[in-house]
Amino acid sequence: MTALDRATARELLRAAQQARRLAYAPYSRFQVGAAVLADDGRVFTGCNVECGSYGLSHCAERVAIHKAVSEGVRRVVAVAVAGPGRRELTPCGACRQVMAEFGTSFVVVPRAGGVRVYALKDLLPRAFLRPQDYR
Ligand code: THU
Repeated sequence: MTALDRATARELLRAAQQARRLAYAPYSRFQVGAAVLADDGRVFTGCNVECGSYGLSHCAERVAIHKAVSEGVRRVVAVAVAGPGRRELTPCGACRQVMAEFGTSFVVVPRAGGVRVYALKDLLPRAFLRPQDYR
């Protein structure tokens, strides 16, 4: 896991902020955007997609990751997340686990007009691994 370039982190966050504008969040009115940097350099974006049957709603991060995976990606370098307001928003626990599944190293979030980069291992210490990793 080498460090994430600052300019790349900023660019990824910008992509997440753009994607946020497409959020479908009529129930929570809490719009979130995400952007995934794949290990082959491609970027995939996603937004939260809610459903009138609330439990079927999807977080922006998982939408972006699953878009990437459905296009052939198997390793993710970084995921950027953009929410509303000034408070730092870090991904929910379920999304952290999905990030771990695809080997995500970094999570990029906005902070004071800039970016903050977390190592996923700090956000999800001692993660459950993939079943094949226990055999
Ligand atoms: N949400 C995300 O998209 N990402 C997160 O990291 C946290 C929450 C969405 C789920 C739901 O549509 C709305 O935000 C309120 O929880």
